[in-house]
Amino acid sequence: MEDSVEKQAGVPLDFLGELRRTHTCGQLRAAQAGERVLLMGWVHRRHDLGGVIFIHLRDRDGITQAVFHEDVDPVIHQKAEMLRPEYVVAVEGVLARRTPETVNPNVETGEVEVQAAKLWILNVSKVPPFPLDETVNVGEDARLKYRYVDLRRPQMQRNIILRSRISFAVREFLTSQGFLEIETPFMTRSTPEGARDYLVPSRVQPGSFYALPQSPQIFKQLLMISGFEKYFQIVRCFRDEDLRADRQPEFTQIDIEMSFPQQERIFEVVEPLVERVCRVAGFEVPAPFPRLTYAQAMRSYGIDKPDLRIPPFHCVEDLFPGSGLTGDGLPLVAIRIPNTGAPTRKERDELKIQGQERGLRVYDDVKRLDRDFPEPMAALRERTGVTENDLLLVAGWTAAPQGQRPEETVLQACGQLRLHAAQKYNHRHGLLDPRQFRFVWVLDFPMFEWDEQESRWNAAHHPFTSVHDDDLEKLTANPARCRAKSYDLVLNGVELGSGSIRIHRRDVQSKVFAALGFSEEEARMRFGFLLDALEYGAPPHGGIALGLDRMVMILAGETSIRDVIPFPKTARGTDLMCDAPAPVPDRQLRELGISVTKR
Ligand code: AMO
Repeated sequence: MEDSVEKQAGVPLDFLGELRRTHTCGQLRAAQAGERVLLMGWVHRRHDLGGVIFIHLRDRDGITQAVFHEDVDPVIHQKAEMLRPEYVVAVEGVLARRTPETVNPNVETGEVEVQAAKLWILNVSKVPPFPLDETVNVGEDARLKYRYVDLRRPQMQRNIILRSRISFAVREFLTSQGFLEIETPFMTRSTPEGARDYLVPSRVQPGSFYALPQSPQIFKQLLMISGFEKYFQIVRCFRDEDLRADRQPEFTQIDIEMSFPQQERIFEVVEPLVERVCRVAGFEVPAPFPRLTYAQAMRSYGIDKPDLRIPPFHCVEDLFPGSGLTGDGLPLVAIRIPNTGAPTRKERDELKIQGQERGLRVYDDVKRLDRDFPEPMAALRERTGVTENDLLLVAGWTAAPQGQRPEETVLQACGQLRLHAAQKYNHRHGLLDPRQFRFVWVLDFPMFEWDEQESRWNAAHHPFTSVHDDDLEKLTANPARCRAKSYDLVLNGVELGSGSIRIHRRDVQSKVFAALGFSEEEARMRFGFLLDALEYGAPPHGGIALGLDRMVMILAGETSIRDVIPFPKTARGTDLMCDAPAPVPDRQLRELGISVTKR
């Protein structure tokens, strides 16, 4: 059934010549009836009713119907018979109102049609690899292989257009606030964002490599030292890390840096920026956004990126002293999921297993808890606000978990159970409404994270982040309790952005490097140029980077960032369309002084 290009060769093609469109396919309305119009686009659908052919003509703006009547003009009707989906055409004719019974109320142009008087076939098309209707579910591999066709689908057109409008709004807003858009290099040295680097070999210096930036972090700090005061960039970043639905190896940040800011100053810029961006997508979000410290987020949600659409959990160990429901000094957590109705036996068992897999003991038998602990349970009800129609899970940990912050391990497990339960009941109760946008700032993160494998402290954000003024003393004595001047912007459980106030003093930066276990020599080797720059009058500075792809994903109502990136990679980091990564000819490798060994 597939029309080969050879077979299509029989279709006489016309030249574009001096033809100009008068309108787009989304513009025409009944008020313009009687006007002569010329439209160009793709044949979306063709209905051949014998003497009358209807064409749905599509461009990026919409779809307009064109009609070819055999009895009015047999020659052009005959030409229209040759049209197939995705042929590229120009149609000229008079715009007419449709008869009432043929009006299509589902499309904005549904009251009119073009009575075609001229038709130019500008190009033919093979049968598309999949239909372009929104309703059709197409496998992602096929969509990525034929991405240029996939991108024609209305959903993808909408997403990419939204992305462009958001980028424009970001530029417009930040420029109006005195920020300068400044570019930073892509071929650079390794940047410390915690992932692996993508390397670019140098031909003129065989054996030496550039690294693609994981973020412009160091350069934006240098720009503050250079006196530009307010910088932004909509910039591509590259990270070789395990991919997920909200991660790509190359992705885009809205990167921002300011001189002389407090944390609040950064929020004062980001909140109206985000309000503006949401408005572009048709949503009003009320700023200022709520704020939670990391410690509060952990004790209420068990995660540093809480989804505020689900109610917080409550630590209730103080109500059950000596009960043995949780380990000594460890949290006992009451998780409430509203409006679920009573769980079935099977559901209860499943939730228990989910808890066990995370090391938790789940007390799901509320009647039994009421019987064994009547007073504490009454106090628990008051604290959590749980009603008869809600799901209540009480979870604890009987033996102390390993690690530097054991209470956190328990809270995290409870946080995962809370999310699991919410997702499980979501289909029934629509708890996780994608059109509800609940932003929250999470502040005062720990400065360091313990790396079990390497038995050392890592920077929780990055090593240029300032220590909390009150915790400077703890830097060497008690790194586990050191807080950073860092903050995340979280939306519906997704980390949208992350930033910090930076270290601007050379002596403090050295102390932090030392706490991270870098020798002075190692620090010099990796970041010597930054350390030097800190010695030439570095102003206090700070900033943030927002993930543009993630933001557009959520605002477009998508669940994968691949659906808002024109040419994304698969979860294995492959570009299925151009088949990258790919081996390169030996000659090219020799020139670079590279030999490849098979693993
Ligand atoms: P961070 O590493 O937290 O901070 O990144 C900032 C934001 O970028 C987005 N993001 C990603 N999006 C898609 N795919 C990925 N692989 C990916 N990795 C990160 C997230 C994240 O919140 N230089 C610091 C920022 C700063 O301190 O100013 C940085 O890059 O939305």
